[in-house]
Amino acid sequence: DDLRELYQEVILDHGKNPRNFRHPDDANREAKGENPMCGDRFMVYLKLKDGVIEDVAFQGRGCAISTASASMMTEVVQGKTAEQAKALFETFHDLCTKDDHEHCDHGPVDEEAMEKLMVMSGVRQFPVRVKCATLAWHALNAAIDGEDKVSSEDRD
Ligand code: FES
Ligand code: FES
Repeated sequence: DDLRELYQEVILDHGKNPRNFRHPDDANREAKGENPMCGDRFMVYLKLKDGVIEDVAFQGRGCAISTASASMMTEVVQGKTAEQAKALFETFHDLCTKDDHEHCDHGPVDEEAMEKLMVMSGVRQFPVRVKCATLAWHALNAAIDGEDKVSSEDRD
């Protein structure tokens, strides 16, 4: 149907032309996300200042879904507070882990969790591969929880 096709186009576009696919040189946080099933991985970079995500970007190698999801994630959390971004992540992470407490080692995922995931990532029209779609979100969460990088140069 039309909506499905529209979503598909959006995803394909994000997968092919990912937004914020770069390494900001003023990023003060970073974290790696890796899908052990395929070896795909992203680095997520944040400029986190006074609890606000002033910049977010990513680089790395992933499939179309993980790349599109990462791209959309950067657009969703840009300008949000770290708390807001974490709340987004944790809401659906909780749903995801309901039946499987092994860290992100999903078995089948229930409908509700899937719906939430799709809203979050925009990956609505795929028979979702959850690990792909959540890869960048996990890295984002890790970056928020991490420590500031020891800056090479203080440019302020
Ligand atoms: Fe599902 Fe992490 S366990 S998103
Ligand atoms: Fe590797 Fe999707 S197949 S992240």
